[in-house]
Amino acid sequence: MRVISVVGARPQFVKLAPIVKAAQRAGIDHATVHTGQHYDDAMSGVFFDELGIGAPEWNLEVGSGSHGAQTGAMLAKLDELFDRERPDWVLVYGDTNSTVAGALAAVKLHVPLAHLEAGLRSFNRAMPEEHNRVLTDHAADLLLAPTDVAAGHLANEGLAERTRVVGDVMVDVLLETADRPAEPGLTARLPTEPYVLATIHRAENTDDPNRLAAVIEALASVDAPVVLPRHPRLRDRCAEAGISLEIGALHPVDPFSYAEMVQATKASIAVATDSGGLQKEAFVLGRPVTTLRTETEWVETLEDGWNVLLPDLHEISSVVLREAPDAERGTPYGTGDAADRALSALTEASVGD
Ligand code: UD1
Repeated sequence: MRVISVVGARPQFVKLAPIVKAAQRAGIDHATVHTGQHYDDAMSGVFFDELGIGAPEWNLEVGSGSHGAQTGAMLAKLDELFDRERPDWVLVYGDTNSTVAGALAAVKLHVPLAHLEAGLRSFNRAMPEEHNRVLTDHAADLLLAPTDVAAGHLANEGLAERTRVVGDVMVDVLLETADRPAEPGLTARLPTEPYVLATIHRAENTDDPNRLAAVIEALASVDAPVVLPRHPRLRDRCAEAGISLEIGALHPVDPFSYAEMVQATKASIAVATDSGGLQKEAFVLGRPVTTLRTETEWVETLEDGWNVLLPDLHEISSVVLREAPDAERGTPYGTGDAADRALSALTEASVGD
């Protein structure tokens, strides 16, 4: 069985790592195509190096652009590649423009398509990620859902027969990384006092300068240092809008590598973010998380108040710095074997054909 994974944006490199390792264990022929959606070393190369997955077999070097231009450029190049390689499966990840481009290219060529992290829904149709995940789920032959809630969404859309619940591959890599020794040099980049870790990169928080200014001011008002890695979208939008990150409680830093991010989360007292992945990582690592969005795809994190959605920005300090709940969190995202289960589902579905 030959599987080609399509990745392009930072969180997808993290999800790819456990799949590459599980493919090696299962003796599956696996290759990776990087669309080039993310291209800065800090957003791309560093992940391939540190996660031990080697360089991708192909890099399409598509780069940034409007949603249509970026997705279209990927589609044209993936079409050519899949037509030449004719894999048994194309595997796409999550909800980025690279995901939907891989999905469209595969279905148009009748190459079997599997979607990892299927069934997530924010029900916010203004989000580019929501378009990408709905379109990809309805195109895919096999839907690899991380949770029962995600499988329920797929069932509501008539997709139950193609769905398998396999757990969350981000938990596989998180559990493996969390116990590693501290990354050299990380401590020097972090405040000495107890701190909050924050990330902001979503279009809905960064593209409107008024919203962006309000979010930055709110984070700057927190009553503890706020470590804020500068995602390129945040950096660029702040520069365009003349918004400084060197104010109040903010402690801006260059983007972290994956292991640094995990360790910075573990060492924090709380997390504030609009990232889906970080909400879940904070939850699994037992840090209270405040989500700077009106909804979350990862609703399990809301249980017992581990995650709180869209605080009133005037009260952000007390919400972010609330006590951690003492409730047990359970393992709604699996126990670290999702990649093995995902590849078993691909093998079984191939045999069933
Ligand atoms: C993308 C995903 C988002 C995911 C995020 C993770 C879509 C629609 N969005 O958002 O779901 O959570 O990745 O980071 O696919 N840039 C650089 N260097 C890079 C990459 C981007 O400077 O290596 C800058 C460019 O100015 C670019 C902007 O960041 O225009 C946004 O990049 P883009 O790939 O369009 O989306 P993200 O905001 O990163």
